Amino acid sequence: MVGDPVLHTSCRPVTEFDDALAQLIEDMFASMYVAEGVGLAATQIGVDLAVFVYDCPDASGERQIGHVVNPVVAFTGGPADAGEEGCLSVPGPYHELERPSEVTVRGVDKDGTEQEVSGTGFFARCLLHETEHLSGILFIDHLPRNRRRRVLRDMEPYDWNAV
Ligand code: NI
Repeated sequence: MVGDPVLHTSCRPVTEFDDALAQLIEDMFASMYVAEGVGLAATQIGVDLAVFVYDCPDASGERQIGHVVNPVVAFTGGPADAGEEGCLSVPGPYHELERPSEVTVRGVDKDGTEQEVSGTGFFARCLLHETEHLSGILFIDHLPRNRRRRVLRDMEPYDWNAV
């Protein structure tokens, strides 16, 4: 949850591509599905490693499912998208936040194989949102101070630790 130090600091790059990493990714998918999210960063379950998972529709409505280890943003572009954004670690309503509509993230997979993931629309937003999580940035950090304060005040109680 927002306020937990692990969410507000840069996390460590993954250097061991072992069973523990594969298990972490499985756990993250399970947590994301229970919480009905479209993406989840390791920091959101208290692990300061650079990995995120996603199951998110792109601009054409196609479901994109996967994970990225040690992601860096390689490209942002396209027309700005003033869509709504939320975060499992900031429970409550979504908030409008302008984002690029095309994003490419570069990283590796759980076996250390290089990969590049490109997204459009809501999935582009997801790729940026999750990559930023791993640098300790939450989407509310992009909001004007007054709106950010209001979001934090209006946070809804949420049984995030139910599982
Ligand atoms: Ni988030």
